[in-house]
Amino acid sequence: MREDSNVSPNSTYHLSSFSDSDGELSRLKKQAALLPKLELEFLVRHGMAQDMKVLDAACGPGVVSFMIDDFLTTGSVVGVDLDPELIKDAQSAAAKRGKEVEFHQANALELPFENEFDFIYCRFLFQHLAEPEKAMRSLFNALKPGGILCITDVDDEWLFLHPEVPAFDQLRKLAGAHQALQGGNRYIGRALRHLLKGAGYSQIKNDIIPVNSDMIGIDTFIQITTRFKKEIVRRETGTSHPDYLLKEIDEAIAAQDIFGMIGVFSVSGQKPFP
Ligand SMILES: C[S@@+](CC[C@H](N)C(=O)[O-])C[C@H]1O[C@@H](n2cnc3c(N)ncnc32)[C@H](O)[C@@H]1O
Repeated sequence: MREDSNVSPNSTYHLSSFSDSDGELSRLKKQAALLPKLELEFLVRHGMAQDMKVLDAACGPGVVSFMIDDFLTTGSVVGVDLDPELIKDAQSAAAKRGKEVEFHQANALELPFENEFDFIYCRFLFQHLAEPEKAMRSLFNALKPGGILCITDVDDEWLFLHPEVPAFDQLRKLAGAHQALQGGNRYIGRALRHLLKGAGYSQIKNDIIPVNSDMIGIDTFIQITTRFKKEIVRRETGTSHPDYLLKEIDEAIAAQDIFGMIGVFSVSGQKPFP
């Protein structure tokens, strides 16, 4: 585990505070690369075009920034993240790929950009923010007039296993309560449309992308939907007690055919022209 040097009180996601930060980094990369075709399709549906200047806000290790870069022709993509270690990781991946994708450390609440981007993608950041309206203002400033903001995030009411596994539901609820205590919101998905409207966006599009265990395999599904939950509970209580829930979930999955599904909320809007 790395030193806890970059913990921001404004966010519930700090890679350095994971009990296994290397494991979390691999999970983040795996999750980001799961369904690139589906993700590109919805970004295009929300208005991303190949000649645009795109910002990947809270880009993590940059996997999605590279996917966007591969799609762009005359356009370009910039990735920013609060965590300097993730930015270093993204920069070294860019160097290996021979790609000219720019990555900078920056706080999404205070972005150093003014009227600069045609399209901003913000993936799985808002659930972690204590001040989502502040981030909305900063993203609004970074967009050109007529530019599009697209936010993707979770709403844990749209997450289930069938047949029901009580330990999974218990972990889901515990994580929701603990993330709220730390300033986050695991039910942010339903609030995104209001956030965009309140910030002055027009042409709002609401989308829910269903991701299920037949698409990605039940083991991957469980990994991506439980790992952060375990951490957020462990971090608050200082114990490793969610482990018994994970054990029960694993046993249930080994014993029978279980289907899992999550609805990922994606909402976009256009910054008005003056
Ligand atoms: C769940 S990860 C998602 C990363 C990436 N968007 C993806 O989908 O793979 C959340 C990311 O938000 C970043 N983050 C948290 N608070 C932030 C802030 N205030 N400004 C910029 N990035 C932030 C974290 O460092 C982390 O990389």
